[in-house]
Amino acid sequence: MKSHVMILATGGTIAGISQTPAQSDYCAGQMGVQDMIDAVPDLKQVARISGEQIANVGSQDMSFDILIHLTCRINELMTQDDIHGIVVTHGTDTMEETAFFLNLAVNSPKPVILTGAMRPANAISADGPLNLFNAVAVAADPDARERGVLVVMNDRIHGAHSLTKTNTTSVETFLSPVNGLVGTVNYGKTAYFRFPFRRHTCLSEFSSRFCQPPHPALPRVDILYACVDMPPDLIDFSLAAGARGIVIAGDGNGNMNQGTMKNAAQKAAQGICIVRSSRVPTGTVGRNVELDDDSLGFIVSDELNPAKARILLMLALAKKYGTSHIQQLFYTY
Ligand code: SIN
Repeated sequence: MKSHVMILATGGTIAGISQTPAQSDYCAGQMGVQDMIDAVPDLKQVARISGEQIANVGSQDMSFDILIHLTCRINELMTQDDIHGIVVTHGTDTMEETAFFLNLAVNSPKPVILTGAMRPANAISADGPLNLFNAVAVAADPDARERGVLVVMNDRIHGAHSLTKTNTTSVETFLSPVNGLVGTVNYGKTAYFRFPFRRHTCLSEFSSRFCQPPHPALPRVDILYACVDMPPDLIDFSLAAGARGIVIAGDGNGNMNQGTMKNAAQKAAQGICIVRSSRVPTGTVGRNVELDDDSLGFIVSDELNPAKARILLMLALAKKYGTSHIQQLFYTY
């Protein structure tokens, strides 16, 4: 008996339509889940398929309301013995954030695979159908269990912790620059190289909170992008607007100018969590390297880029953790 894979659709370019196949302008989130399934009849070769529409948005409009609804639905479905894996179709723009959130909040060892497309469904050489086929093959594969939430795009299998979008238009947009790929999948044939190094899903201390209501309210955390002559008072504006934590997308190894550093250190002394991440696309942010984090009271994001650091900080603040515990989380997840 083939595995049963449920496809949960949220929109994105994989469900997008352009007016003509050779046109670069298009509208994301136009097709429904059943149309996407019907467009790839060969899915039936690898699994029994069913589908459900969770949302139909461009992923720039993904929200924590949708994300929490998606997470709870996944956690509910995964308790069913007759569901072996889940594929989430999603826009690529914020796919890494959704993948990382699910990696912390899904409470099951069964495969959860995100996929999408860089070209709309009716484009010349649309990449969505093969991405969907490969994603279903990975979701149906028992060897994909216990590897955390995975992203399947362009024949590559990425871990949620590691992947990042690197190109605005190319089908080879996702890379895992710090830790490398989890594996590859070629016309449904899988090969795995490693298990993710960081804690995830069932072992995550956050996952049990998304099984049953009430779900935790997530506090606002803002990302501030460091640049030449960065205005230090951006931090004050964020906090006045209700932010409970700040992630600095720092220069280089998480740096910021003197004015911003002094203001950030003052806020850290008042109990605001300040996380130093980096606007550089690859590499880690090291503690006490160029800045004395111990005396400034900062947290470093280690391997997490600013968007993923924000998600971890939101979940940690919802648990009311303190600074030193939150620093440990950045080495754990
Ligand atoms: C989106 O993220 O929804 C649009 C872009 C894409 O899916 O590639």
